[in-house]
Amino acid sequence: MWVGEQAALRETVERVADCNVPGKPASSGGKRPIARRTRVWPDGQGCRLPATKSGPACDRGAIAVPRLTVIDAIELARPDDWHVHLRDGELLRAVVGHTARQFGRAIVMPNLRPAVVTVADALAYRDRILGALAPGVDFQPLMTLYLTPGTTTADVEAAVRAPHVHAIKFYPAGATTHAEAGVPDVLACSQVLRAMQHHGLPLLCHGESIDPHVDVFDREATFVRETLPRLIDAYPGLRIVLEHVTTAEGVAAVEAAPENVAATITAHHLAYDRNAMFAGGLRPHMYCLPVLKRAHHRAELVRAATSGSSKFFLGTDSAPHLRGAKEASCGCAGIFTAHAALEFYAGTFASVGALDRLEQFASRAGAEFYGLPVASERVRLGREAWTVPAKYDVGDGELVPLGAGESLPWRLLV
Ligand code: NCD
Ligand code: ZN
Repeated sequence: MWVGEQAALRETVERVADCNVPGKPASSGGKRPIARRTRVWPDGQGCRLPATKSGPACDRGAIAVPRLTVIDAIELARPDDWHVHLRDGELLRAVVGHTARQFGRAIVMPNLRPAVVTVADALAYRDRILGALAPGVDFQPLMTLYLTPGTTTADVEAAVRAPHVHAIKFYPAGATTHAEAGVPDVLACSQVLRAMQHHGLPLLCHGESIDPHVDVFDREATFVRETLPRLIDAYPGLRIVLEHVTTAEGVAAVEAAPENVAATITAHHLAYDRNAMFAGGLRPHMYCLPVLKRAHHRAELVRAATSGSSKFFLGTDSAPHLRGAKEASCGCAGIFTAHAALEFYAGTFASVGALDRLEQFASRAGAEFYGLPVASERVRLGREAWTVPAKYDVGDGELVPLGAGESLPWRLLV
């Protein structure tokens, strides 16, 4: 069992107690509804005990009995995932349906082997993604190119002309899974960055220092301190996304930057801190890059995600690796979350009484940043406990999802 942060997903919801005397709503008695924080039990049904000693007195002299209004369902414009790894081949076929069930569109990462470096690569990959979907599934993969030392301004111009290519992804060389083809110093790519700024093509940053002397937990903060400001200063009009932001420093830098700088936030960095990697032993399925951070960083991520800001939007960074590649002497970085991403996000938003801000984060802010329409279709999430499967089969292998075997209080109703 995970400790600590898993509990936070189930912890609290905002409830409103008001007067239930017939014909006498609390507001007309001069009493304001009382906002309460009430523990939700693991079955997701909520505490059944009265939440108050007594309700607010009503002016008929009766004792008002508290009536609890629990948010049991929410409806929002169909969300998008602005950062996902769909992989290729058998693994693509195993995971793409999960993302397509949850999201209308997704920004697809280009870190295949070999990497997706040209528009032709991206369009061929897009065809493979569409081919892996079940018939009739409505899902739009939004493609990206991988920034390499060989990327040219002609590649940028081709990307701008291609309707299905939406951004270029910068991996610091060797920083993470399949990042060997990345660039050691993004600032050295001046012509490409100038062209991207000119054409308004977003640069998606894996924002971590690759200096081997930097502590793994400080890599993002170091990038944010040493590289991000230089990037913003040199290219003030460049549209930048600090992908999967994980630190208070990253959040502060994005908040302080101009409107053209934004960030994605994953479900797992909102739900867990780094203790989850070491809960009772080493938990390889909780290992990703950027690595989970301390609790105070998680609190800042939750604050930013639930703030209603247009700078922070949903990006799962769902990054599937087969069990054998995770449970190894040198396990791969990446957590598979596409099976329950919205449920995890909803749990976090509910835990701070911010479900009314979920649509802005999940369905609006990212679309606005990318200049795409907000979906007209709507989805519903209900408070309905369900158990995450222990694994998903992929050919002869297995994929262990986030929260494997655990009960989650929210469920996407489709
Ligand atoms: C990603 C992957 O496996 O492709 N891994 C991860 O831990 N997030 C790469 C990345 O986004 O860093
Ligand atoms: Zn990623």
